[in-house]
Amino acid sequence: MATGKAKTTKRRTKVMAKKAAKKVLKSKTKVPAKKAAKVVSANGLPKPSAKPWGQAGKALDGVKVLDFTHVQSGPTCTQLLGYMGADCIKVERPGVGDITRGQLRDIKGQDSLYFTMLNGNKRSITIDSKNPKGKEILERLIKHCDVLVENFAPGALDRMGLTWEYIHKTNPRMIVASVKGFGPGPYEDCKVYENVAQCAGGAASTTGFRDGPPLVTGAQIGDSGTGLHLAFGIVCALYQRQRTGRGQKVLCAMQDGVLNLARVKLRDQQRLARGPLSEYSQYGEGVPFGKAVPRAGNDSGGGQPGWILKCKGWETDPDAYIYFITQAPVWGPICDLIGKPEWKTDPDYATPPARLPRLRHIFDTIEGWTKTKSKFEVMNICNEYDIPVGPILSMKEIAEEKSLRDTGTVVEVDHPGRGKYLTVGNPVKMSDSITEVKRSPLLGEHTEEILTKVLGYSAKELAEIKISGAITPPEKPAKAEAA
Ligand SMILES: CC(C)(COP(=O)(O)OP(=O)(O)OC[C@H]1O[C@@H](n2cnc3c(N)ncnc32)[C@H](O)[C@@H]1OP(=O)(O)O)[C@@H](O)C(=O)NCCC(=O)NCCS
Repeated sequence: MATGKAKTTKRRTKVMAKKAAKKVLKSKTKVPAKKAAKVVSANGLPKPSAKPWGQAGKALDGVKVLDFTHVQSGPTCTQLLGYMGADCIKVERPGVGDITRGQLRDIKGQDSLYFTMLNGNKRSITIDSKNPKGKEILERLIKHCDVLVENFAPGALDRMGLTWEYIHKTNPRMIVASVKGFGPGPYEDCKVYENVAQCAGGAASTTGFRDGPPLVTGAQIGDSGTGLHLAFGIVCALYQRQRTGRGQKVLCAMQDGVLNLARVKLRDQQRLARGPLSEYSQYGEGVPFGKAVPRAGNDSGGGQPGWILKCKGWETDPDAYIYFITQAPVWGPICDLIGKPEWKTDPDYATPPARLPRLRHIFDTIEGWTKTKSKFEVMNICNEYDIPVGPILSMKEIAEEKSLRDTGTVVEVDHPGRGKYLTVGNPVKMSDSITEVKRSPLLGEHTEEILTKVLGYSAKELAEIKISGAITPPEKPAKAEAA
């Protein structure tokens, strides 16, 4: 772990910030306006760093996060903040930790991939938040940190005594960011997991095939999607705090996050009131629309019709498919490639509106061609003509894809307990804030380090804390291993 390095960077950032502040002060007092313009720009920013790109620290260097998250939504958010350089101090229950440490375990007794892949770039401290000494430690952490992130069930933080009023009084600069299943309203007290949010946010009713039940998607749009939204809210609140000097509450409801990602379907709901949705294949098939947006199978969500087509080997390889988009500007090359040059001028096929009632037949014909080639051959050929296509990549192919390793999107990390594992690195690439992906912490790995070096407890106080039960498991430890 590059904690020392991070600290040096932090110290440097602090010094730089102090210097910049001094310069601003100077410019206000003694330095004549013309000279001041040389040291600070007109908008008060320090002058552009002369350091090489990527060596001027990280975007969120100096931001301290009290990470009270668990499972997936909250940890996604704080891991992203950690990737950007924030110091994420993850508070876990002594002896138990984040429930996901023990969920879906693939190696007996070791932190699961569920946990390790969502908790990199964090430090772990164990604190029993209901123990009086534990509460005292938490108070110090609240004073020390800039952001508290949590995704407990509704009311759980208040039951710990950590109400907004208490936190705001203790540290008026603290940003308190929460994920909840639902926003204020009839369901606000409900506990929510991924698929509940996918259903309540409108995604499930619009996913799947028309003649089948609603479907959830494998992409964790409820959990990880909402974590992403929350990270955005936190960074905005940090920015606003620069002006106001005070923190605020940031709330992301999973239902809202899913709906935001499914907004094209709310678009279609409103279009439906004015007539059938002509780009849905059911339009071409003459199937009437009901009152709500239907499931659209693999229809494209935009104005360019698309579908998933079989490629060579589909009989034995479940992922030998390609997504094929019949984008209007490349209709000519598509016709030539699939051996239907006459469709370029045939009035039944030549224009997008003429094609809409015939999409099934068109895609069947294109599939006759894609079935003769592997998905990568189809992709290579189509790319030459700017025809947008996407091979259906299996997770095995993604794990082995060299270009994803090269960009740091898929990263191999070494863990003292479980050895090497793959994780998803920072999907956001910044030219001056380079992400180093660090392994997830062991349960309580940094407890003493945080108590002494961050919160300033003396050796004597540490000894007292140790016997208080605030950082150690109760006598009969709760079971971490879940089914
Ligand atoms: C995800 C969720 C359903 C899990 O529910 P859960 O496993 O029952 O966990 P809870 O959040 O209710 O917390 C359980 C208890 O642990 C306690 N706890 C957690 N950390 C603790 C600590 N360090 N010390 C002492 N107690 C602790 C909480 O105080 C709570 O106790 P209480 O109910 O007596 O007040 C729920 O947290 C939730 O709905 N979260 C919001 C939505 C969300 O993020 N969902 C997606 C998760 S990926």
